[in-house]
Amino acid sequence: MKLVLASNNPHKLREVREILAGSGIELLSQREAGCDMEVEETGASFAENARLKAQAAMRATGLPAVSDDSGLEINAMGGAPGVHSSRFAGDRSYDAVCRDILERVAGHPDRRARYCCAVVCCFPDGREIRCFATTEGTIARELRGSGGFGYDPIFLLPQGRTMAELTEEEKNAISHRGRAFRELVRKLKDGECDADK
Ligand code: IMP
Repeated sequence: MKLVLASNNPHKLREVREILAGSGIELLSQREAGCDMEVEETGASFAENARLKAQAAMRATGLPAVSDDSGLEINAMGGAPGVHSSRFAGDRSYDAVCRDILERVAGHPDRRARYCCAVVCCFPDGREIRCFATTEGTIARELRGSGGFGYDPIFLLPQGRTMAELTEEEKNAISHRGRAFRELVRKLKDGECDADK
């Protein structure tokens, strides 16, 4: 089955393709599906934003479309940057953004953080599948590793490595995105859906 990934983030496309390998799902980028668009993320939650993006791509292409809205919640920053993770980074390099966060949480007793990922898949007939997963960790004391993307160099896992120190395979096995998309594959196989119009 063909699914359009409603995202312009090449890192996400790469990770999701890897996660879905062998599932029987052919993941098309927006460009491959003939639509080049950027949807404004006006939702108040990861799930709302994922839905906005998936619906827009589904309507533009006429194909089933799936979207991931994700981000990092940091306790010491009151849950920020959360749904604004991409906007918080803005035009800065992620190296600069990670260093900014290290300064903001310096001296704070609670360094706990979590990656969140909402996946919404919309079908032209109105059906919708929704999945959500998190990965718990803490904010590291320094940037470590060169894998992954975004905030990965400062996201320390309980096993002692940052997300950026994992191989792609290791990251996908435990990541918020990996778990949410595997749940999507299971629901697709079982014919489960969360909205049926
Ligand atoms: P979205 O396109 O609005 O979902 O943006 C998600 C943002 O959250 C990304 O641009 C990154 O800043 C951050 N993010 C989400 N998932 C990850 C991840 O797996 N590693 C690092 N940063 C992530």
